[in-house]
Order: sequence, then structure tokens, then C-alpha cells
Amino acid sequence: MTAPAKKLFVKTYGCQMNVYDSERMTAALAAEGYEATATPEDADLILLNTCHIREKAAEKVYSELGRLKRLKADRPALRIGVTGCVAQAEGAEIIARSPAVDLVVGPQAYHRLPALIARREAGERPVETDFPEEDKFDHLPQDRRARRAPAAFLTVQEGCDKFCAFCVVPYTRGAEVSRPAARIVAEAGALVERGVVEITLLGQNVNAYRDADGVTLAALVRRLAAIEGLARIRYTTSHPTDMDDALIAAHAGEAKLMPFLHLPVQSGSDRVLKAMNRKHRAEDYLRLVERIRAARPDMALSGDFIVGFPGETEADFADTLALVEAVGYAQAYSFAYSPRPGTPAAGREPVPRDVSTERLHRLQALLARQQAAFQAALVGSELPVLIEKPGRLAGQMVGRSPYLNAVHLAAPADAAGTIVTARIVSAETNSLGAERVAIRGTSAKPPGPAH
Ligand code: SAH
Ligand code: SF4
Ligand code: F3S
Repeated sequence: MTAPAKKLFVKTYGCQMNVYDSERMTAALAAEGYEATATPEDADLILLNTCHIREKAAEKVYSELGRLKRLKADRPALRIGVTGCVAQAEGAEIIARSPAVDLVVGPQAYHRLPALIARREAGERPVETDFPEEDKFDHLPQDRRARRAPAAFLTVQEGCDKFCAFCVVPYTRGAEVSRPAARIVAEAGALVERGVVEITLLGQNVNAYRDADGVTLAALVRRLAAIEGLARIRYTTSHPTDMDDALIAAHAGEAKLMPFLHLPVQSGSDRVLKAMNRKHRAEDYLRLVERIRAARPDMALSGDFIVGFPGETEADFADTLALVEAVGYAQAYSFAYSPRPGTPAAGREPVPRDVSTERLHRLQALLARQQAAFQAALVGSELPVLIEKPGRLAGQMVGRSPYLNAVHLAAPADAAGTIVTARIVSAETNSLGAERVAIRGTSAKPPGPAH
């Protein structure tokens, strides 16, 4: 008789790299007899895969641990692990602060999870925050079950050598490391066999990708594009200084590479960019955007912005607004600066909170107008939409346009994973409404009812 499966609940915070890591940890623990559950109350093991990027993100973990402590009081056999960037940044402090925590493991040591769980059962409360030589992904099994979603993430590069003055990533994820291209191509092939049609390549600095054999991101994209059945390739996040000519050219010549690029700039002021150690000026970014649009005129751009960085004046902020006006973003993320322990900017004189909040509101209003204009401009056009999952209404599915817009349309549930041609009929803040025109490879069908 086999023992009943133990249950695993994973809660993921932060970026897509954590989403990918959570999937790989779940697969690794499945091999150890853990079955995934969606409810913490059922779990024998709970992992919080955490984010340290802003103070709020890190605080969420401690409030969640406060709640979980009560679960553990009822069920002392429950094990709680903290993984991810807070684990890396705070290590043993987490155990000191939260006695309910059984183990702490940083992002580069996930392949050691089974051994750490065994150490916990032997009475230890292990903390593992090494940056081991070996590639954790070589030691983490891949999930072989059929995919539920036709779009998947695939981490190709980890870590960062840029050391922007505000950012914890170089400390929590370590130095830039690129996985071997052959491994990535094999993993992508296995994903496609399991029903994946769109892959987003992930890295903290994905366009700095270069493996030990000198394969660059542009070359990797070309190799992946040769995989039959893989229809769409995306990559994120890119740094402006690593956007090389070959990658820009790939956007012109490689039809599977989608016309959406997340290219954070952070600020439009050269003074602030210098203080941030961003290694580019506003002008460099604008010229880069021009070159990208020359290669791919319909490229949709996304960005990240920090307002209220120490020393930012009203004139600096006006430069940021001007840059946003000049670029025209399809969407963007913006944040008030949050001082992070151990980063160079942490000790600098802060901008008063009410000032940065007010600036953030102005920037977000501008970005929202640009997003609305981008969405509205697509109304009336026909776009290929990859249908991903059921929508909120019965008979409705949600998919993605090449520009990453969420698109709602009437379609049967078994349409997931197909690419249909859709006529965009309406635009909302975060999604488009569409009518199906044709399934790729079949004759045009009469348009279905609007959602
Ligand atoms: N590697 C990516 C993203 C890193 S984190 C890049 O280089 O762009 C994602 C975003 O969080 C950053 O682009 C930045 O806008 C924001 N961010 C990082 N540190 C921050 C901080 N201390 N305060 C506020 N926002 C921050
Ligand atoms: Fe952080 Fe800068 Fe590296 Fe991005 S490039 S991860 S913002 S240090
Ligand atoms: Fe957060 Fe770590 Fe990602 S700090 S944004 S989870 S790399």
C-alpha cells in the first residue's frame, strides 16, 4: 500500500521568475510524494515564495506568516517554508522573527528542498542561502503532465550585474547566469509536446542572455522559432543597454517573436538616471525606441518607472512625463521609491512621501490615458488571438493579442490553445472585446456574437 499523498500549498509573490520557480518546486516535490492543493488548510507543507523588491512586498510575507501561525497551532505537524527573495535577503532573521517557520531557502538552492525537509524532520530548522555552483534547474525535475495553460514561462537567465542604486535583485538573485541554450531548447520542446504554444523567456536581464558557448538571446529566439508547434515567443525583462542590433533585427525578421517589449527606463531625467546608476541617458532610451520602431513599426512598449527617487526635483519629474509623452506606452508599471536595506540609495535623503505620492498619481494618470488610447486604436482591427482560458461569462474565453492585450470573445472551452482571427469591437481599461472571424487554417466562419 502506498502512503496517502502529502499536500503542498505554494503561495507566490513578486515577478514571473517566482511563478516559474514555484512550478519547478511543485514538480520537484511531486517527485517526493507531495500533491498540490489550493487551500492552505489542507496542506502538510506550505511554501511562501516571496518578493523583496519593495517594502510592502516584504511586509506581506510577515502578515501571511502571522495568519499561518494560527493554522500551525492547530496542526503542529504542518511545515512552513519561506523561499524566494525575502528568504535570500533575511535568511535566519526570518526564523528568529517567526517561530512558525520551519525552513528558509533562497532562490538558487531550490534543488536542495527535499534534503532541507529531511533535515527539518531530523529536528533542525535549516536556512540555506548559498549561491551554489550547480544550476538548480538541472536538478529540479520538469513537470511532465499535460499543461492546463497554452502559454508558459521559461527562465533562461537569472541574476543581475547592473546594481541600480535602488534595487535588491543583484543581492537576492546573485550574479547574472545564463542557462545553456541546448537545455532551454529541450525544455521548450517538452513544453510544446505538452500543449504549450506560447513561451515567455524570463530573466531579470533577459536580453543580457549569453550562454557559455556565446549564444545570445537573438540566436536563442531563432533556435526556438524552429520548434514546430511553438507559435509565439516573448521575453522579459530587458535592460535598455543590452538591447543589441541582432535582437532588434529579430523583431523585424522573426514572425514568431511577438511585437511587445517590456523595456523599463525608470526615469526621464539624466540626473536621476545617473544617481540610479542606470548606465543610460533619457536620450539613449528614446533613440533605442526609434530603432526598435524602425524595425517593427507596430511594437507595443511597456515600462517601469520609479518616482520620488532621492534627489528627484519637480524638474526631474517633468522630464519623466516628457519621456512618457515622447514614447507613448501601451502599458506600464509605476512605483513610489521604496528604500531597500543594503542598497546604495537606502541612506540618501528621501523625497517627502506626499510629494512622491502626488507625482505618482500624475504619472499614473498619463500612463492610463496612453493605455486607453492604445486599446482604443485597436478597435476595428483584426488580430490573431491565442485563446487561453474561460472568461467570466458563460460561453466566453479570454486570450491574448500579439500586443499582450487580454481579449474576450465568444468561443467554446475546447478552443483553448488555438489561435483565432478576431475583430476587435470594444475597448475597456484592461481588456478588449472581440468577435471571432476565423480559426487559423480553416475557412472563415461567420462572426459569433459579441461577448
Ligand atoms: N530586472 C528588471 C525588473 C526589476 S524589479 C529591470 O531591470 O527592469 C521591477 C521593477 O520594480 C523595477 O523595474 C523598478 O521599477 C521597480 N523597483 C525596483 N526596486 C524598487 C524600489 N526600491 N522602489 C520602488 N520600485 C522599485
Ligand atoms: Fe534591478 Fe537594475 Fe538589475 Fe533591473 S537592472 S534587476 S532594476 S539592478
Ligand atoms: Fe521580487 Fe525577487 Fe522577483 S525581489 S521582483 S521576486 S527577483
